[in-house]
Amino acid sequence: MGRMEGLAAVVTGGARGIGEGIVRRYVAEGARCVIADIDVEAGERLAAELGDSVAFLRCDVTSEADIVAAIDLCISRFGALDIMINNAGISGVTGPIQDTELADFERTMAILTTSVFLGTKHAMRVMKEQGHGSIINTASTAGVQGGLGPHVYTMAKHGVVGLSKSVAVEAAPRGIRVNVLCPGATLSSLTAAVVTGDKDNLDAAYERLSSKYPGGKAPRPEDMANAAVWLGSDEGRFMNGAVIIMDAGKEVLSDRAAKFYPID
Ligand SMILES: NC(=O)c1ccc[n+]([C@@H]2O[C@H](COP(=O)([O-])OP(=O)(O)OC[C@H]3O[C@@H](n4cnc5c(N)ncnc54)[C@H](O)[C@@H]3O)[C@@H](O)[C@H]2O)c1
Repeated sequence: MGRMEGLAAVVTGGARGIGEGIVRRYVAEGARCVIADIDVEAGERLAAELGDSVAFLRCDVTSEADIVAAIDLCISRFGALDIMINNAGISGVTGPIQDTELADFERTMAILTTSVFLGTKHAMRVMKEQGHGSIINTASTAGVQGGLGPHVYTMAKHGVVGLSKSVAVEAAPRGIRVNVLCPGATLSSLTAAVVTGDKDNLDAAYERLSSKYPGGKAPRPEDMANAAVWLGSDEGRFMNGAVIIMDAGKEVLSDRAAKFYPID
């Protein structure tokens, strides 16, 4: 028996990167997943590889109708919505604040925050009826500290943390949990594009990212998936409103006090 036998999940941004890692791990643990993503080619390929436990739906997470359709598909195909993972994202607009165009700001916020609002809203609607559920929102270490990402990305991810904590209070008495995953720089096409300029250059990206980590190894999507298994399954039943930072102590933990306990 897997640790998630019989559970059904929607994973936005599940065609690639961290979302793909979560889908693969969930299926290996006995769960069924709807991959909700705009990347039709990657989504259909992954669904075909993983078989009957997975369904792909083209879904733009900024569209309310698309989010509702992904949740409806999960219920009609797999019988319930036990877990909603609002994970799709982009790095968004970059550059000095005075040069940031309103349209770019709004597009970035739509993909990073409107998406999480919509996914949380409709998952709550269904989960209240069911009387149970786990919502997992992917923020970032840039959601708890400044200086780790572009301005709008940082603002958006702080918003994801805020919404999740707020809705966790409404959710708790109804047997629903809302938690946040905050990955540090993790190997994916998103980070490969940022650190090498080429989203497909994963080997060079892994080397570059790993050199920045205290232990010399960068996390991969499966490392984030480990936390998503725990949060999504009954093992995480006492986790609600939690903000889980997964950066191996890279950025969010300061080493400024190391003079009291020298690090070799
Ligand atoms: N990789 C990291 O280092 C890192 C660190 C912190 C947080 N995150 C967050 O993790 C999440 C996943 O990022 P990733 O690194 O796996 O990136 P990725 O680019 O590998 O995957 C993102 C997925 O989201 C999908 N997507 C993008 N826009 C969409 C839209 N409008 N509608 C539906 N799907 C859409 C893409 O098609 C892709 O499959 C994002 O929210 C990102 O901000 C990533």
